[in-house]
Amino acid sequence: MLEDAKRQAEDSRILFHDPVLFAKHILGVKLWDRQRQILRAIRKDNRTAVKASHGTGKTFTLAIAVLWWLTRYENGIVLTTSPTFRQVKTQLWAEIRRVASRSRCAFPKLKTTALKLRGEENFAIGLSTHQAENFQGYHGKQVLIVADEAPGIQEEIWDAVEGVMAGGKVHLVLAGNPTCASGKFFDAFNRERSVWQCFTIDAFASPNLAGLAIDDLLQMDPAEGGPLDKNPVPFLATRRWVYDHYGMWWHGDETSSPIWMSRVRGEFPTLMENALIKLAWLERAKNRARQQIVQDTGERLVAGVDVGGVDSETVVYVCEPNRTSPKIINLGAWRGEDTRGHAVAFLRPYHKRLAVVRVDADGVGHNFGLHLRDEGFPVQMVHVGVPVEEQPNLKMEDPARRFVNRKAQYYQRIADILEHDALEGLIDDLTIDQLSSLRYELDSRGRMKIESKEKARERGVPSPDRAEALMLALGEPPPLMEWTSIGQLQTQSRPHPVFDEDSPRGYSGLGTLLKSRKWGPGGF
Ligand SMILES: Nc1ncnc2c1ncn2[C@@H]1O[C@H](COP(=O)(O)OP(=O)(O)O)[C@@H](O)[C@H]1O
Ligand SMILES: [Mg+2]
Repeated sequence: MLEDAKRQAEDSRILFHDPVLFAKHILGVKLWDRQRQILRAIRKDNRTAVKASHGTGKTFTLAIAVLWWLTRYENGIVLTTSPTFRQVKTQLWAEIRRVASRSRCAFPKLKTTALKLRGEENFAIGLSTHQAENFQGYHGKQVLIVADEAPGIQEEIWDAVEGVMAGGKVHLVLAGNPTCASGKFFDAFNRERSVWQCFTIDAFASPNLAGLAIDDLLQMDPAEGGPLDKNPVPFLATRRWVYDHYGMWWHGDETSSPIWMSRVRGEFPTLMENALIKLAWLERAKNRARQQIVQDTGERLVAGVDVGGVDSETVVYVCEPNRTSPKIINLGAWRGEDTRGHAVAFLRPYHKRLAVVRVDADGVGHNFGLHLRDEGFPVQMVHVGVPVEEQPNLKMEDPARRFVNRKAQYYQRIADILEHDALEGLIDDLTIDQLSSLRYELDSRGRMKIESKEKARERGVPSPDRAEALMLALGEPPPLMEWTSIGQLQTQSRPHPVFDEDSPRGYSGLGTLLKSRKWGPGGF
């Protein structure tokens, strides 16, 4: 009897001390080998970092680590975080809940992002990174800090985390897609590599693709139910997912394909000196957009239209152009020989609120613009290739000294907006990919221009139709004016504004005219 009890105690000690055995025997889950290696590193090392492809089971592994730490240490505390609180709730804590509910040993009922196991001193909690003080006050405890989607986490938090790490037994684990080639997560794989246990998981090394190279995938019959759909572990990154995203994200070489490198190969995008827009800014914009769905508040709008040919898209972006935080309201994209009907139907509901519809008027765009104008839209034909107007009074800031043409100027504004975390509603992956692939060049006078489409095509980068439509919509800041109705105008003796050749009816819209006004501070 005593022997049995002793053996049982020893067995459970072994089970609870090893996260891999714990996962198998207590939680009843099956792990693939990288997940097992990561869990053992989390047990042994005080700093573990995992950069990996999308869908390799990172978040799931972290969920196991949370439950294990809590069970293993009677006074164990787990602090978990992600770039947004919504991600904390809907990703890591959703996995924790799922795993806990199926465990062979019952866990107490979970709150949305909190689990108490043996009382007040033994808990796991999901924290927002906005308040660094959340991470303080755990000195001398056995603490596991878990950061999922780590590259997107505000850098200010890491000082507080390092503070916690200074005392007691504290283990830190960071996981994510390596989207940003700077910051804490990047340092773990570079400058601070010697103090971290580092893992990289390429989708091609994950269970559904093990042993395959991209050429093998490309040769597979893409028919539904064919070899692309034969995935031994269907919940992890699938062959079809990789196949489809190769088409979207691979642009001929690694430096031209930052999203492919990051989300599929688990590698930091190569630092491109001349990338105009950093992937990290775009990722931040997408995180914000996911967390806060854009509300259409009925403000005036602008649209940008990039007209496609036979094998490119016609894209329309409808945006609210306010100076401090422009918003994306809607995106329409179509393929086909004549996409005018689609664009008109798409724009129709916004008709009364559109101050201007900017159409790229070079080539096929001209006729398209005329058609929209016939349909009553306030079309402004834009020639992005023309030089920018000189403003000598601005001296060094004269846009004509900075930019070769309007296109460069417009894209620079998009870059500024993104760098300042000001754009709302950017969630479209294709737009993000296209923006991240833009490169700039300097001419002999030091003025900036965007790499030509021909050169980009040579690098394997397709025509950035979605980026262009967004650039047309938001590249020009809204005028320092507001719109007043004609009715109001009659009581004010103001001269009619003068429109340039490019916008004959442009800014007048229907029944509206311009009135000067001072704009508040801010803007780009
Ligand atoms: N070992 C496993 N057993 C069961 N489901 C798993 C396992 N690993 C991952 N999953 C599931 O696979 C999906 C992708 O895993 P996830 O951890 O979200 O990947 P990542 O964070 O790398 O994108 C999730 O639905 C998750 O629940
Ligand atoms: Mg994840």
